[in-house]
Amino acid sequence: MPTQTHEKESQAQKLLVPDGFSPEEVKNLSSVLNALLADTFALYLKTKNFHWHMSGQHFRDYHLLLDEQATQIFDLTDVIAERVRKVGGTTVRSIGHIARLQRIRDNDEEFVGPVEMLKELHNDNKSLVESLRGAHVVASKANDYATTSLIEVWIDEAERRSWFLFEATR
Ligand SMILES: [Fe+2]
Repeated sequence: MPTQTHEKESQAQKLLVPDGFSPEEVKNLSSVLNALLADTFALYLKTKNFHWHMSGQHFRDYHLLLDEQATQIFDLTDVIAERVRKVGGTTVRSIGHIARLQRIRDNDEEFVGPVEMLKELHNDNKSLVESLRGAHVVASKANDYATTSLIEVWIDEAERRSWFLFEATR
């Protein structure tokens, strides 16, 4: 067993990146960023799910709106994951790993009405904004300016998505 532990440790060493952050900071940054990454994948797939299963008289508008939002959300994933690697952490490895970390819930319902879809995504984007604000605090504490500056843009994008989703439902 000690040999196995030793092997695991030396394998983990191979993924270390010289970053200037303390082990504690790497742990905290990786943890908030990986949770955000899992949420981002979950929200991406839900937005696509609703894009694919949209129905009703505003089909074209809503279908296109959700596709536009899904593309914007998907574009975040690689940037978040690479940010984790840049600060010296490791990131998600599988759908199972995402499922363990995601806070945004899946919706596997057979039918969801168009307005319910928009409302649910509105709430999900709002909770993503809250998580982003929380991650901003952690990144600020670590003086991780690159992450805080990225997060500021992601908050603006999520607020824009929330705004569009809100306006489309009233
Ligand atoms: Fe499509």
